[in-house]
Amino acid sequence: MEKKIKKIGVLTSGGDAPGMNAAIRAVVRTALHHEVEIIGIRKGYNGLINGEIKEMRSRDVSNIMNLGGTILHTARSPEMMTEEGQKKAAAIYSILGLDALVVIGGDGSYRGMRELAKYGVNCFGIPATIDLDMGCTEYTIGFDTAVNTGMDALNKLRDTSSSHERCSVVEVMGRDAGYIAMWCAMTGGAEDVIFPEAKETQDHKKVIQQILTNRSTGKRHNLIVVAEGNGGTQQLAKEIQDITGIQTRATILGHLQRGGTPTATDRMHASLMGYYVVKAIMEGQKNKVVSYNRGRYEIIDLEESFTMKKQLDPEYYDILKVLSI
Ligand code: F6P
Repeated sequence: MEKKIKKIGVLTSGGDAPGMNAAIRAVVRTALHHEVEIIGIRKGYNGLINGEIKEMRSRDVSNIMNLGGTILHTARSPEMMTEEGQKKAAAIYSILGLDALVVIGGDGSYRGMRELAKYGVNCFGIPATIDLDMGCTEYTIGFDTAVNTGMDALNKLRDTSSSHERCSVVEVMGRDAGYIAMWCAMTGGAEDVIFPEAKETQDHKKVIQQILTNRSTGKRHNLIVVAEGNGGTQQLAKEIQDITGIQTRATILGHLQRGGTPTATDRMHASLMGYYVVKAIMEGQKNKVVSYNRGRYEIIDLEESFTMKKQLDPEYYDILKVLSI
C-alpha cells in the first residue's frame, strides 16, 4: 500500500523567474487543501542542505501572486553539485520527515533533483526559467514576463532611435538559447535578430548591409536584437557606426528582465502547474515533473524529462525578415 502523504517541502532554485511566487502559492494552498503539512525551504538547495525551513500556512502566501522574485529566495548552489552536498540534502529531507520535495526552477535545478532521487528523495519539478530552454516543456514560468519586459524596452528604444535616426543594438538574456531574443525581436518589430540557433552563421556584414538598405528605403531607425548567447553587442554597435556612419547605441538589458510583476500568462501557468504537481504527489506518484505540451499539462517521469528535446522554429527568423522590410 502507498505511504500516506503527510508532509511536503517546496523550494525555488537557480535564477529567479517572475511567477515563482504564484507557483509557491499554488503548491502551498493545494497541499493545505489536502490537509498536508507544507514546509518552505529558503535559498534553494543551499537552504535544504542547511535546514533553513519555515512551515507555510495559507496566509503566508497571501498577496504574493503579483510579486516578481521569490519569497523563498533562491540560489545557485555549488554544494549541490558535490556528492557530499547531495547526501547532506537527502539526509535533511529524511530528518524533516518529508514525503516529497517540490522544486521550482530550470534545468540546473532539475539536474539537482535527478541526483537527490538517487538517494531516495521523492522529487517533483515545476519548470521556471525566463529562458524557455527546457526540452521537456513548451512553457517555462517567467518567459512571458521577461519577453514583455524586453518588448517594452524595444518600444522605448524605438522612440529615441527614431527621434535621432539612430540604430539600437539590444542584448537580451536567454543563456545559450534564443527564445527570448526571437520573441522580443518579433513582438518589438526589430529589423534583425542575432540568435544562437540560426541556420547559418550570422555575419555582421550582412546585418550592416541590411541597415544600409533599410536607410535607403526610408527607415528612420534600426532595432537589432542580440541574444546573450551570441554576445558581442558593443562590438556590433561600433562596427555598425563605423561602417554606416549611422549613430548606434548598445543597450544590455541583463537582469532587468528577471524582475517585475508576472504577467497573467505566467500566473496562470504557475497556478495550474503548482496544483497539478501536488495532485500527482497525492496520487502516490514518484519523481515526476509537470510540463506544458501541445496545449495540455502533463505529468512525466523526471528521468524521461532529460531525454525530451525541443527547438526554436528556424522559420521564425525567415518570417521576421519578411515582416521587417
Ligand atoms: O537562466 C536565467 C538567466 O537569467 C539567464 O538568462 C542568464 O544567462 C543567467 O540566468 C544569469 O545568471 P545569474 O543571475 O546567476 O548571473
